[in-house]
Amino acid sequence: MISTGSSTPTTVSAGPAGRAMAQPMEAALLEALQQHLTMERKASAAYFAMAIWFAERELRGFSHFFKHESRDEQEHAGTFADYLIARGQTVVLQDVPAPAQAWQSPEEILAASFQMEADVTTSLQQMYAMAERSGDTRTTVFLDPLVDNQVNSENTFAHLLGRVRFAQNQPAALLIIDGELSDGKHDPAKLA
Ligand SMILES: [Fe+2]
Repeated sequence: MISTGSSTPTTVSAGPAGRAMAQPMEAALLEALQQHLTMERKASAAYFAMAIWFAERELRGFSHFFKHESRDEQEHAGTFADYLIARGQTVVLQDVPAPAQAWQSPEEILAASFQMEADVTTSLQQMYAMAERSGDTRTTVFLDPLVDNQVNSENTFAHLLGRVRFAQNQPAALLIIDGELSDGKHDPAKLA
């Protein structure tokens, strides 16, 4: 028979957002996650600016590619927001300054993009190390697939930078790459 005696409600700890929180987060790691979310939003703004730069120069394939990259980065920011909420934390949105808009060539843009992706990976690696130090396995597991995605992004941008370098700023060659990007072709060669 089920006991009908009075029961004391289980107390669970709550995070800053008032939601149930299973494990508190180390302050430095929380700050790094908030800053990383901002980094993703900055990347989204940067890629949007690049999409505009190419659109202004009739390179619609490049513009299309960067428009999608911009949306992907906004999604990545969403992934971090979702994770912070799931961990009972409050998402703090920080300033996103105006992105750079003055470039001399597609090569300059692809080089800046590659560097931006590498910097994002570095930020993930730093958070990974912090999470490991504070025994926060939830965060290392969360970060694992993101590191994998970053390696793919670096590979894509290295590939596009290489192709743009081949073009040596010649319009005919750039238009070929632009046509490929219009068709969604931006992956490096696959040997497997
Ligand atoms: Fe990203």
